[in-house]
Amino acid sequence: MTIESTNDNNNTKPAITYSECYQQCFCSDNLELMKTIESNTIDLIYCDILYGTGRNFGDYQDLKPIRSEIEAHYLPRLKEMHRVLKITGSIYLQMDYRIVHWLRCIMDDVFGYNNFRNEIIWSYKRYTGICRNFQTMHDNILRYSKSENYTFHQLFQPYQPTTLKNHKWEYDEINGTYFYWKRGKNTHPYKIHANKNGVKMNDVWDIPQLSPISNERYDFTSQKPKALIERIIKASSNENDLVADFYLGSGTTAEVCKDLNRNFIGCDINPRAVEITLKRLNNARS
Ligand SMILES: C[S@@+](CC[C@H](N)C(=O)[O-])C[C@H]1O[C@@H](n2cnc3c(N)ncnc32)[C@H](O)[C@@H]1O
Repeated sequence: MTIESTNDNNNTKPAITYSECYQQCFCSDNLELMKTIESNTIDLIYCDILYGTGRNFGDYQDLKPIRSEIEAHYLPRLKEMHRVLKITGSIYLQMDYRIVHWLRCIMDDVFGYNNFRNEIIWSYKRYTGICRNFQTMHDNILRYSKSENYTFHQLFQPYQPTTLKNHKWEYDEINGTYFYWKRGKNTHPYKIHANKNGVKMNDVWDIPQLSPISNERYDFTSQKPKALIERIIKASSNENDLVADFYLGSGTTAEVCKDLNRNFIGCDINPRAVEITLKRLNNARS
């Protein structure tokens, strides 16, 4: 396995091609790294970006929630992400209410309005704060493809208990499936079959945030749960595909790629983030 960490972000480095990649993590500004990557080589990009809080998180300084600052940072980077993505590729960008409306417009310009696929709401529970508003308990994940012809595997979720309770399910011995009879006013009764995988997954994802005592937890601000990124990678890539995360943080995406047999390339501008990522890839905690 090749694991690289480098502070060398000059542009003379040979371009990285798909066949050479397995798991590569760079300490670099993402714009500089992307300039070294060949066009049309990446199958899936997931980035948990800077949310525009204006805060200093210790591990990194966030951008200010000022439209010109947000556009100046993201426009050149999203253009590069579009260039390096394969024609069958997808991109997921995670942020929150502060900048999602601006990012939606920039993404429409760069990827095309017709290539917008979903706005996924990651819904989580947390302590409630003092404020005169509804409590904010979600992130927004914008999903775009590069073309109409994109990789997508339908994911499923369990049926709601009410769906199971409200119908009189019967077992179909021939097909080995459950069904109930739907009776309309003007139609003959017909069978509704249950899908053994559950129902098609919707765009509101209830996944708990990482608890401070979780086994998954590394000491990094804004670390995301693996379960969230697993869904994205399973839905929009295949084994041995190349997945990129250009805002790597503690390396959650890199670790999930290793678990799911995906190739990975990513970077973070903060050396501590890359150090933690390399530890995770080597299953080392201290
Ligand atoms: C929200 S955090 C990512 C957290 C990550 N998803 C995790 O699970 O740990 C964003 C990361 O982007 C990095 N970052 C900010 N600007 C960057 C840039 N221009 N190039 C590369 N990384 C950058 C920050 O250092 C920070 O680690």
